[in-house]
Amino acid sequence: MTGSSDNAATGSVFEVIVSRSSTKKFADTPLGRNQIEALLTAAVRAPDHGLLAPWRFTILEGNSRRILGDAMSAALLEKMPDADAEARQREASKAFRSPVLIVVSALPQSHPKVPAVEQLVAVGAAIQNLWIAAHSMGLGAAWKTGSHAYSSTVKRALSLMEDEQILGFVHVGVPLSKAVVRPADLSGKVRWLQDLRQ
Ligand SMILES: Cc1cc2nc3c(=O)[nH]c(=O)nc-3n(C[C@H](O)[C@H](O)[C@H](O)COP(=O)(O)O)c2cc1C
Repeated sequence: MTGSSDNAATGSVFEVIVSRSSTKKFADTPLGRNQIEALLTAAVRAPDHGLLAPWRFTILEGNSRRILGDAMSAALLEKMPDADAEARQREASKAFRSPVLIVVSALPQSHPKVPAVEQLVAVGAAIQNLWIAAHSMGLGAAWKTGSHAYSSTVKRALSLMEDEQILGFVHVGVPLSKAVVRPADLSGKVRWLQDLRQ
């Protein structure tokens, strides 16, 4: 179930959460289906107002990463018709940064009590759950969006629905290098209200 035990975050859930950081470089080692399914299980345990399950997961590994790579290259060409072969190749190679890429999208539905924003937030929480679970299993992740998350060419290539929104290209794999864990900075972000009525 774990990736590399050397990298596995140990200790309390709190310690796992505060020691998370983005993975910069991944090993080529493929992941097992059981590992990917464990990550998705953690994802769908996210809080979900109205139990609408607004999340969708598109898994790309091995050669299927080419579907996204080709689409990102085509999307670049639409945005920058002068992009040369090298630039297009660089764009396509982004799909191959990790052995597994989980495209997480939201399919918000119209609901009398649960506005779309709450459904998008639930999908964001699902991505965070997935990432924390990966970290606890000794795996690493990186959350990317960029213009491709909003490209109809990319959405079509991934067979997403018209009204589906990509919230993250989540790279997953055994980490070779990670970003430094940044300090948790609360300064200026917290208000403690005093009740002056006593
Ligand atoms: C909605 C969302 C979109 C993101 N998109 C990108 C992205 O396109 N490129 C990128 O390098 N990082 C992206 N990130 C990751 C952040 O840049 C990263 O988490 C941040 O730099 C903090 O680093 P850490 O994860 O190591 O703490 C995204 C994060 C979120 C929540």
